[in-house]
Amino acid sequence: MSLPTLKTQRLVLRPFTLADAPTVQKLCSAYEVAAKTLSMPHPYPDGAAKAWIATHEPDWDNKTWITLALTLKEDETEPQDIMGAVSLKLCLIHQRAGLAYWLGMPYWNNGYMTEAAHALVKYGFEELQLNRIEAGHHRSNPASGRVMQKIGMQHEGINRQYILRFGQFEDRVMYGLLAADWKEEENQA
Ligand SMILES: CC(C)(COP(=O)(O)OP(=O)(O)OC[C@H]1O[C@@H](n2cnc3c(N)ncnc32)[C@H](O)[C@@H]1OP(=O)(O)O)[C@@H](O)C(=O)NCCC(=O)NCCS
Repeated sequence: MSLPTLKTQRLVLRPFTLADAPTVQKLCSAYEVAAKTLSMPHPYPDGAAKAWIATHEPDWDNKTWITLALTLKEDETEPQDIMGAVSLKLCLIHQRAGLAYWLGMPYWNNGYMTEAAHALVKYGFEELQLNRIEAGHHRSNPASGRVMQKIGMQHEGINRQYILRFGQFEDRVMYGLLAADWKEEENQA
């Protein structure tokens, strides 16, 4: 089965294509984006975007990852530039996944990642039959924590000095969401 395309009110979440590589490289080259992820390289090397995009189909075939691009819905007849990425790292033997995402700086603080993450979490619970979705953010990245809170995740604790990034240890703030809690929230909405 090929990677799905999901639609929200303002976004189309679609599979990346190799044609997106220059935009991925441009957006991921920002230190402010890379520094808040666990492993995005910085400076972002030539060829890394194509190599990353090439992993998406096989990782989906193996059911280890689902990764989709955020694009604006505005005019679906025109190919839209990608704005960022949202992923689930799947662990199907335990029916759980880890949510991860990044968004290019020009698009921050418009509610886009909350909208995208909500749609992918819904897909995870409804289509992939997940029981739990978890996520973690650097303590120095409260915007990401807000995304987790706004999609209904619960704070589960802090892993102290969990991340070594660019020579600095950072605490990781952990969130989780169970299928039962999510369904109850959706029914009330
Ligand atoms: C984290 C990230 C994905 C958020 O995307 P986004 O589309 O801007 O998120 P949203 O607009 O949906 O929500 C952002 C929330 O954070 C809040 N926020 C922004 N900066 C903040 C700050 N410094 N302190 C506290 N809250 C902040 C916004 O006000 C908003 O909350 P609100 O709706 O309650 O006002 C984006 O900033 C990003 O890609 N950062 C770099 C990479 C990264 O952090 N990836 C995640 C790793 S865990």
